[in-house]
Amino acid sequence: MKKLITSIFLLAITSNFAQEQAQDTVSQNEEKMEWFKDAKLGIFIHWGLYAVNGIDESWSFFNGYISHKDYLKQTKGFTAKKYDPAAWVDLIKKSGAKYSVITSKHHDGFALWDTKFGDFNAVKGASSKKDVLTPFVSELRKNNLKVGIYYSLPDWSYNDYTHFIRDSIRYKIADEPKRWDKFLKYYQGQLKELSDTYNPDLYWFDGDWEHSSEEWQAPKVRQMLLDRNPNTILNSRLNDQGDYATPEQGMPITRPENKFWELCLTMNDSWGYQKNDHNYKTEDQIIGIFADVISNGGNLLLDIGPKGDGSIPDEQVAILEGLGRWTNKHKEAIYDTRSGIPKEHFYGPTTLSKDQTILYLFVKGNPGGEVVLRGLKNNINRIWVVGEGTKLSHQVLGKVYWSHYPGIKYIKLPEHVLDENMTVIAVLLDGKVDLYREDGAVIESN
Ligand code: GLC
Repeated sequence: MKKLITSIFLLAITSNFAQEQAQDTVSQNEEKMEWFKDAKLGIFIHWGLYAVNGIDESWSFFNGYISHKDYLKQTKGFTAKKYDPAAWVDLIKKSGAKYSVITSKHHDGFALWDTKFGDFNAVKGASSKKDVLTPFVSELRKNNLKVGIYYSLPDWSYNDYTHFIRDSIRYKIADEPKRWDKFLKYYQGQLKELSDTYNPDLYWFDGDWEHSSEEWQAPKVRQMLLDRNPNTILNSRLNDQGDYATPEQGMPITRPENKFWELCLTMNDSWGYQKNDHNYKTEDQIIGIFADVISNGGNLLLDIGPKGDGSIPDEQVAILEGLGRWTNKHKEAIYDTRSGIPKEHFYGPTTLSKDQTILYLFVKGNPGGEVVLRGLKNNINRIWVVGEGTKLSHQVLGKVYWSHYPGIKYIKLPEHVLDENMTVIAVLLDGKVDLYREDGAVIESN
């Protein structure tokens, strides 16, 4: 009996301890994710051999649009002659991004840095003849931007990797475990190298779908990277080992369940530079998507695809500059904010200051004189146009003295304060945001 009591007691202590430990990990995780949550905008860069012909990154040979041999000929055109990392970072900074994620190695296996593992890289295997990753990372650091490294787990050009092209698998792991071990050493060695050289703030894995977590040794890889830098962040594509979700191309319609997420998005329809792809989203569309993303508590990772000579296509520069004008003007409504209020209260994107006392309303186009806020219980202390300063007046209608139904607030918005892309209105509340979420409207039974 005594034994039983002791073991129950011990069990209680341990489970308490386990709970506390779990809480610790949760709060440590929140802390580590703070900069990411505040950053809102990152610039994704797909730069590699594929930019030379302007074809699909890696997939073009995997899917058989070009032979692997011909794909590799692009190494000649990958000159990086006009590559100006300082100008790249300047543009990224101007766009309002707080971090950047660059393809250190895509599925084709071509590395942008001087890796010790093989010759298929920008130093030894292409006309560029130089490490093009290091100067970019240095510029990011110099400018206080966070460093994200994209790394493809699959390496379709590596002779000891399983997959090669869609219809041709080199071997099965079960048949040649030693060969797979060789690949594991190779890719994990490269990751160590990246970690030692750049100490990235974020790793952006890709291609995990080709193998299981066990086969990639994903938990071990996570541990290895965290041992080196406990604050580093991993995206969700290392099987089950990620810190945040990465919806791709599709703006989530409902708010994602994961607290931390990032929408990666192309400006046109391609990740890498494709001369033939002119299907660019407009500035308005990108800003609209961005507002939706931050309204739902996510980040936008907007992609650019530099050419083989290192220059950034004009259309992409123009979009980043336009975006920069808008983010700079509206910075108080963007950075360090949290997701906004449910759509029933305001038919558009919203964000909230971290202390929940300022509500930012994002208004597209010309609403024709006023915008409508429904079911806000707070009194409003002041309203102004973000980045412009005009104070706005409002009217409360539908509020009656015998009910706590808060009525509808109409904010007068004159045409002359409208932003050319999207206007933002700041609503300073008399306390933390408080929303009327009850069933009834004005008529209540008691
Ligand atoms: C996909 C593609 C890849 C691209 C990536 C970006 O996973 O395989 O080509 O780099 O998405 O999110």
